[in-house]
Amino acid sequence: MKILATGSALPKLTVTNHELATFLDTSDEWITTRTGIRERRILSDESLHDLAVEAVNNALEQARLSIDEIDYIICSNVHNAYLTPGLGCVMRELLRASCPTLDINGACAGFIYGLELANAHLHMGRYKTILVVSAEATTRMADWTDRSTCVLFGDAAAAVIVQAGGKEAIFRMSGADGVEFLNAYNGAGNSPYAKNAPEARAIYMNGQEVYKYAVSTATSDILALCQEKEISLGGVDWFLLHQANQRIVEGVKMRIKQPEEKFPMNIQQHGNTSSASVPLLLDQMNRAGKLKRGDAMIMSAFGAGLTAGSCLIQW
Ligand code: ACO
Repeated sequence: MKILATGSALPKLTVTNHELATFLDTSDEWITTRTGIRERRILSDESLHDLAVEAVNNALEQARLSIDEIDYIICSNVHNAYLTPGLGCVMRELLRASCPTLDINGACAGFIYGLELANAHLHMGRYKTILVVSAEATTRMADWTDRSTCVLFGDAAAAVIVQAGGKEAIFRMSGADGVEFLNAYNGAGNSPYAKNAPEARAIYMNGQEVYKYAVSTATSDILALCQEKEISLGGVDWFLLHQANQRIVEGVKMRIKQPEEKFPMNIQQHGNTSSASVPLLLDQMNRAGKLKRGDAMIMSAFGAGLTAGSCLIQW
């Protein structure tokens, strides 16, 4: 599978840690020291579907393709304005696309799950060109009175266009029984029959459990991918890790003993943008001219579930 083009889009509003400290019992010092985050983009009067469409159009422009040349759209999303239909359907209408679209909720690992699905479809020869879009409005799922979670998130959309070709991409998808460590509840609506259903609740997280899972799973997935492909860690040019916490990225870096410059980060400016995090970073690197065709990269993300996905792919 080869990545033909990338695109991304961000909300216009930037919110710094200092601003958060005006209404939360927190400080820039606490947030930067524990997470690396300095500011994040937050949806205000924009809609997530417009952001997703902008990211797709940027990718299409880079690929010099029209939407009619896309055969399938895979959309990774957890929360958007609609409970149903999926964000992919809303986007498809706005894009005037005629191909099918499928939404997946793989939490923060959703982009890697989407890419794996695209890879399988390309292998089957079912579609020629596939768009994988991740768009997340996690700030709309957060409890803005809970300083331990709301400071971590930002919103973003990012897209890649893929086709068959290039070196074979390989994937490693992992899961752990950890629903209780990271979740949000929908609630049961006003069903008069609902019994013992939990009330709707914003994101809850056991940060330390998630941290341990993230570092150990990303490390073992990276090692397993290299072993499967028979390449050394030194042969991997880039490690694009989910931007959830700078210390998680540093923990993985320490364990696999690779140089800092192989671990690009944008968490300082964007916080955790859930499944948009890895493709956003990829697009920023691509547009900054940092990627050379042939570079080997491992993308790795983890999220609610607990679940994780990693991919070794050639740029
Ligand atoms: N400002 C100031 N103090 C805070 C804040 C804040 N924003 N948040 C928590 N605290 C306080 C706590 O109340 C606690 O105070 P106490 O000791 O008086 O009780 C203290 O800081 C320590 O809290 P911990 O939760 O133990 O802090 P920890 O060192 O574990 O850091 C963090 C929390 C940053 C969330 C860390 O656990 C972490 O990064 N975990 C990984 C989580 C992650 O990656 N989440 C993203 C996953 S979501 C996703 O991507 C799917």
